[in-house]
Amino acid sequence: MLLSEKVAVVTGGATGIGRAIGLKLAEQGASILVSDINEDAAGRTADEIAALGVQAAAQVTNVVDSGATDAMAARAVELFGRIDILINNAGVAGAPGWYTRSRSTEEDWRFTYGVNVLGSVNAANSVIPHMKSARYGKILNLASIAGREGRPSLPHYSASKSAIINYTQALAGELAGDNINVNAICPGLLWTPMWEQVGGRYARNDPQYEGLAPRDVFEKMIAANIPFGREQTPEDIGDAAVFLCSDEAKNITGQALNVDGGFFMR
Ligand SMILES: NC(=O)c1ccc[n+]([C@@H]2O[C@H](COP(=O)([O-])OP(=O)(O)OC[C@H]3O[C@@H](n4cnc5c(N)ncnc54)[C@H](O)[C@@H]3O)[C@@H](O)[C@H]2O)c1
Repeated sequence: MLLSEKVAVVTGGATGIGRAIGLKLAEQGASILVSDINEDAAGRTADEIAALGVQAAAQVTNVVDSGATDAMAARAVELFGRIDILINNAGVAGAPGWYTRSRSTEEDWRFTYGVNVLGSVNAANSVIPHMKSARYGKILNLASIAGREGRPSLPHYSASKSAIINYTQALAGELAGDNINVNAICPGLLWTPMWEQVGGRYARNDPQYEGLAPRDVFEKMIAANIPFGREQTPEDIGDAAVFLCSDEAKNITGQALNVDGGFFMR
């Protein structure tokens, strides 16, 4: 197993991509702290992970609050003895109700930067002292292919994910001397509740998708943009996360890996 004896904290780990990453890390032997604002779902996911035979627990954490991310790191150390891996996965596509609006509001910009950017910085700041004292660590940030190129549909989201790619590089340079790897994954098109809402917004605002059901928007976008012609899954992202958090990737840092079927070849 690639991650025996390792300890991972997964923010936004209750559902979707975060849940799949937690399960994949656990299959490789890691103990997992499932950190999320959704207490019930976090508890269910921690139970699912524990059923794989590793240690797992849930911790209610709003990553926007640096006191909460400090408590998250302290809980992981208290339960499991240390923190080897941080998955910065908690993310939103806008302020509540974003999918009903045709244009981004100031609140969309503030809310999205708060969770996606500041939330990632808070969680990293909370675990870094533990990683530095162990002279070992892996930080993996969830960016997006939307961060590769500005998209008119959700500019606040694209810009926040571009910031994450840039932050990944900055942090990788800062922490290389402490033997801490910092990388990002840019997921492509995954059919999740988030994407269903994105599809609805495209159907209302973009003439080429006008009147289509969200799933039809999704499939049209795959056909037009993805050379493999197929969607990506949370498990695809989990598999890439296992590699980047393992010692097989010890000489990879400051990188953003597209897992997108060839959508963006840069
Ligand atoms: N779904 C996609 O197609 C896609 C594509 C590219 C990138 N991503 C990114 O992957 C990550 C996960 O996306 P997903 O599709 O699994 O979304 P999701 O909505 O299914 O999961 C996000 C999780 O984050 C939690 N969360 C939200 N705000 C939080 C906060 N303030 N503090 C702590 N937890 C919080 C939610 O409760 C939820 O469990 C996000 O960063 C997203 O931007 C998703």
